[in-house]
Amino acid sequence: MARKFFVGGNFKANGSVKSIQAIVDNLNNAKLDPNTEVVISPPSLFLLSTAEKIGNGIKVAAQNVFHKPDGAWTGELTNKMLTEHGIEWVILGHSERRTIFKESSEFIAEKTKASLDAGLSVILCIGETLEEREAGKTLDVCCGQLKAVADVVQDWSKIVIAYEPVWAIGTGKVATTEQAQEAHAGIREWLAKTVSSEVAEATRILYGGSVTEKNSGELAKQPDIDGFLVGGASLKPAFVDIINAKL
Ligand code: G3H
Repeated sequence: MARKFFVGGNFKANGSVKSIQAIVDNLNNAKLDPNTEVVISPPSLFLLSTAEKIGNGIKVAAQNVFHKPDGAWTGELTNKMLTEHGIEWVILGHSERRTIFKESSEFIAEKTKASLDAGLSVILCIGETLEEREAGKTLDVCCGQLKAVADVVQDWSKIVIAYEPVWAIGTGKVATTEQAQEAHAGIREWLAKTVSSEVAEATRILYGGSVTEKNSGELAKQPDIDGFLVGGASLKPAFVDIINAKL
């Protein structure tokens, strides 16, 4: 079965009541490609109000979650809190969590398993630094990050992988279509070898890193690019054009 195109909008720690309302209004009033699945991820404070107001078939994702049940985890949200409030998605392993908050691949894998066990779908982010790319280690790094998950998770049907080269995030330096396609194909090959050919065929692999309405059309034509995880541009009206990149 063909993989359904997927576009996620990660607002990161951006947005006010007014600006998020404007994003929601813009998305609700837009004509969106019915063949593209769309998920937006506002800061946690705005999850419920966004979920209540968003329409057009768009779902909402948390940007992070803790893996333990409700308890004494100051500052954290639990999977149960998300599912009880109808939040169906969570982003895990974003490079900002890995780098700034020192989350290890094993910790992210543990969180991925806990979220899947709770019934959530996961946007699992992976990606290499510039230094790692220049050392020819792109796939070793990405597949190492995936291996930690493959060690604890059997069912990949609710995982969407987001390949986000760290050097392309928020820098305006988008990977070339060739660089992105090559990495995506390598990740898919690794999935086929390590997990199964069915999982490799069915799993969506998104590209993230300085995606805009200007470069999304070409990237979307690549055979192994199944959508985008968009940061900065998801805060702008042109996010609609990225969602519609396949039209
Ligand atoms: O989660 C999104 C990525 O970090 C990409 O961010 O589109 O601002 O480069 P960006």
